Amino acid sequence: MFLLKTWRATAFGLYGYLNFTKSSFLEHSKKFKVEDMQIQIQGKNCIVTGANSGIGYATAEGLASRGATVYMVCRNKERGEAALSEIQSATGNKNVYLEVCDLSSVREINSLGSRFSEKGVPVHVLVNNAGLIEHNRITTSEGYELNFAVNVLGTYTMTESLMPLLEKAAPYSRVITVSSGGMYSAPLTNDLQFSGSKFDGVEQYARNKRVQVALTEKWAERYGHKGIGFYSMHPGWAETPGVAKSLPSFSESFAGKLRTREEGADTVIWLALQPKEKLVPGAFYFDRAEAPKHLLSAATRGSHSAIDSILECLHSMSGISS
Ligand SMILES: NC(=O)c1ccc[n+]([C@@H]2O[C@H](COP(=O)([O-])OP(=O)(O)OC[C@H]3O[C@@H](n4cnc5c(N)ncnc54)[C@H](OP(=O)(O)O)[C@@H]3O)[C@@H](O)[C@H]2O)c1
Repeated sequence: MFLLKTWRATAFGLYGYLNFTKSSFLEHSKKFKVEDMQIQIQGKNCIVTGANSGIGYATAEGLASRGATVYMVCRNKERGEAALSEIQSATGNKNVYLEVCDLSSVREINSLGSRFSEKGVPVHVLVNNAGLIEHNRITTSEGYELNFAVNVLGTYTMTESLMPLLEKAAPYSRVITVSSGGMYSAPLTNDLQFSGSKFDGVEQYARNKRVQVALTEKWAERYGHKGIGFYSMHPGWAETPGVAKSLPSFSESFAGKLRTREEGADTVIWLALQPKEKLVPGAFYFDRAEAPKHLLSAATRGSHSAIDSILECLHSMSGISS
């Protein structure tokens, strides 16, 4: 078991070093088409979680600069307002709004879902970006392990609570979930809250990101016929406040080699703009192309069959009636 974990982590580290840094973005971008990003999306309603910082901020700004109406979902009112006013003045787009919501709370997400339902706006794009690595085992006031609460349960509840509004925006509508290449090192497991062994925040994060990829695959299968697209993606290794805070040694040793937040957001924006016919439902994307969901390991590949029981669990935790 230990050897298998070490092998997966080493393979991921090596693969990441070769593919996820700034220099690889510059290399991969030689194949990018300029016109892909010249699409304007006036009148499209886009929700971006964790939009006050890092990749979420660059995504919100990129969508606003292309004319979208952007709803920034942030947990802190002051940080959210500061980011909103920066984005409005940088893009000249006044149709940028703030919704305050702590995504570690199912209760707050459901209340946000109700506020959107009352507005009745069709949701064309939902970007599940908010995420974190918490190294200590912290339990939320609702009783969930914090990484799981935000990265997995928050993503699930946010998406499911907005499903009727996503359906309203079909066939354009799409859900883009910002996962991570970190998921390559973890198989899907039913131990959602890391209760089975000594807590490791980085491993829990990798497991959470694996769930996001498997969830996306399942959602595409389940809701594709409603005209909603589901895609997960990896932004590469980008220099953001989250990385500096949670992975200081990584951040220091890769100083100058990490992507900018805009480079990290590039594929998120690309997925939001492309005609659906160009995209593969349920796929995992990296640098504007479909990427493998598994790296050299049959163990991660086989594990996706656990998603049905995980879905049942998430459904009952989310308090969403169906
Ligand atoms: N940067 C990378 O190299 C990298 C690589 C792979 C994947 N990712 C993924 O990219 C996404 C964005 O990360 P980032 O690097 O841009 O980090 P970041 O700068 O820390 O941004 C994370 C955002 O999520 C928000 N957030 C965290 N917990 C929240 C909660 N309980 N409720 C509402 N919002 C919450 C943060 O809000 P506060 O500002 O209030 O904390 C912040 O706006 C994450 O899902 C991360 O896993 C990043």
